[in-house]
Amino acid sequence: MGDFDSDLEGFVSQAMPVYRDQLETLVSIPSISAEPSHRTDIDRVVEVMGLYARAFGFQANVIQTEGNPVLVGHLEVDPNAPWVTVYNHLDVQPGEETEWTTNPFEPVVNDDMIIGRGATDDKGPALSILHAIHFLHRTGRLRTNVQLTYETEEEIGSDNFGSFLDRSQILERPDSILISDTTFEGDNPAITYRLRGVVTASLRLKTGTKWAHSGSIGGLAKNPLTILSHAAVQCIDVKTGEVLIPGFYDGAREPTAGEVENIDTLLQHFNLRQFSCDMGCDALYTDDPREALLRKGFRPTFEMHGNKGGYNGEGVKTVIPYDVELKVSMRLVPGQDPKHVLEALRAYMHDINPAIEVIGGHGIPAYITQIESPFIERATEACTYGFEKPALRTAEGGSIGATTEFQRVWPNVPIVMLAQSLNSDGYHAPNERFLFSQAAAGMRTMAKYIGSIGDLRTAR
Ligand code: BES
Ligand code: MN
Ligand code: MN
Repeated sequence: MGDFDSDLEGFVSQAMPVYRDQLETLVSIPSISAEPSHRTDIDRVVEVMGLYARAFGFQANVIQTEGNPVLVGHLEVDPNAPWVTVYNHLDVQPGEETEWTTNPFEPVVNDDMIIGRGATDDKGPALSILHAIHFLHRTGRLRTNVQLTYETEEEIGSDNFGSFLDRSQILERPDSILISDTTFEGDNPAITYRLRGVVTASLRLKTGTKWAHSGSIGGLAKNPLTILSHAAVQCIDVKTGEVLIPGFYDGAREPTAGEVENIDTLLQHFNLRQFSCDMGCDALYTDDPREALLRKGFRPTFEMHGNKGGYNGEGVKTVIPYDVELKVSMRLVPGQDPKHVLEALRAYMHDINPAIEVIGGHGIPAYITQIESPFIERATEACTYGFEKPALRTAEGGSIGATTEFQRVWPNVPIVMLAQSLNSDGYHAPNERFLFSQAAAGMRTMAKYIGSIGDLRTAR
């Protein structure tokens, strides 16, 4: 065994070609959880990742749930060593956007990056952690036992992850949990201590039995698309972004003094122009960076995502639809209850028009943990080592259902969310990509971090 740094350097340069090939294979599997017809691809991605994990020394098993499976891997190096649970998700968003320059599931690989759906969310980050563990194991430096949990319904709300965790004989109670499914803050590595929750819903209105000519009956027939849009628009003040659903904000907590102090630190690194450019969003509610951070991390929202039922094809079609649907979501902050929020939306829609049906999902509450912990300290040191920059503590606006389920089942087990993705990678966007420089630095960081927590235990 040589010294850690040079061994790791040698390993990373050898591993990268393998990593590229494996990631290309993973991204070419359209494991879209939103579309039930892709269930065979879900099974396939789990099978392939299982092969990779086994080749690196894991015992891997596919655990079925009422929904999609979870791939579990175990690598026990010492019965007395602490356990770390690694969480990633292998399902992806659909890739139907017309702006893709290539097929989202025929990944393009060049020297710098891989382009394809799921490259950065979350297959690339999952795979670099696996290689980092392989490095530690192969060189006799793994001082923790590792348990992998790869979910395949994160992108549709993680409905069955909680009951999977409840079947406790499957898993060891770990000393810490490592998640890599979040983004850098600009150029800065990030350790996320807080996520928004989310409630997704479909608003549906049916007013007839078939499409009708809007000349023949327009002005007489109520148009469901117009009525539904009007109802949805009443959920939000478009001047301020404030949500207008009565009872929506019940229980919502303001950031603590410690969090406000952390925002001050973040502001020294946060470039709002860069962020809006990375995200490709030009029209913002504010150009004040502090207000921007508050809006994306600390405030709840109401959003419309798309509609079904009207004419969305090319050119003109003068028709009145009869059965329309609007897909919406509401992001939540700590203190808000997803069930209560969904009921508030339902009651509000009922008041506006009792014919509107509200079909909601389970919902995910917001996640929050301490900004500092011994594990987070080690992760910070690892970022300085691997990414060559200290990590910021971030509040992310996205949601990961597994976080609050882990917290419910193992309340004292710290979760470290360590980002490898960049905002410019394009989560959920066309031409989603993952940079190999991030993968290599991610491997170094993860190897350093996992290699450094062998002496940290969490009281049982
Ligand atoms: N990786 C994201 C979560 C995320 C997004 C973290 C943005 C940080 C910034 C995750 O895969 C995701 O997209 N989650 C969904 C869950 C939803 C569909 C229930 C989300 O946040 O929309
Ligand atoms: Mn993700
Ligand atoms: Mn996602």
